[in-house]
Amino acid sequence: MNKEKLNKRIIEGNLLSPLPVILVGANVHNKPNYLVIGYSCPFDFGKYIFFSLSKTRYTTIGIHENMTFSANIPSEDLVDKTNLCGSKSGRDIDKSTLFDNFYGELKTAPMIRECPVNIECEVHEILDYERNEGIIGRVVKSYVNHQYTLEKEGSFNLDWRKIHPIIWVTGGDFNFYKLGERL
Ligand SMILES: Cc1cc2nc3c(=O)[nH]c(=O)nc-3n(C[C@H](O)[C@H](O)[C@H](O)COP(=O)(O)O)c2cc1C
Repeated sequence: MNKEKLNKRIIEGNLLSPLPVILVGANVHNKPNYLVIGYSCPFDFGKYIFFSLSKTRYTTIGIHENMTFSANIPSEDLVDKTNLCGSKSGRDIDKSTLFDNFYGELKTAPMIRECPVNIECEVHEILDYERNEGIIGRVVKSYVNHQYTLEKEGSFNLDWRKIHPIIWVTGGDFNFYKLGERL
């Protein structure tokens, strides 16, 4: 390879990217509220979800109230509603009627029927940073709309090519992208 192509530049910010955007849901004073999270991560081989939550978010109140939340993966057709959830606070607008809400095993973690993938979690630990909290949730159950699944040897697999998740990038270009082709 051309040696010049191996020269490095410094880019500010965390470049563990791209990641799917998720809509995190929580009941705040018994009403569903959703916000956009860009900084999320599965860990312990998927048993837990970690995400970074600013202490100022309205959703934070609900997560502390119930110690449950949901992570919903929106598809491209939900980009406008996703933008709304990521730019307006539940303090100022009622986000409980934006979607068809449903509940699973935990009963207090609102999920979005229109999002192809929903994961309900119970809070396992909250890390206290100066302006943010690190929320660690144990995955309790995951749900997928049936048209996005493929039957394989008697059980169901998820077909990501049908889902069209919204991909969010860092590195100065904080925009949304589409998922690419299978390698
Ligand atoms: C692409 C994108 C990524 C975001 N990522 C985060 C995040 O990781 N953590 C966070 O606290 N807020 C994040 N936000 C901001 C919140 O979604 C936003 O402030 C929201 O309106 C808060 O809603 P709430 O006050 O009803 O909870 C993000 C917003 C966008 C558009």
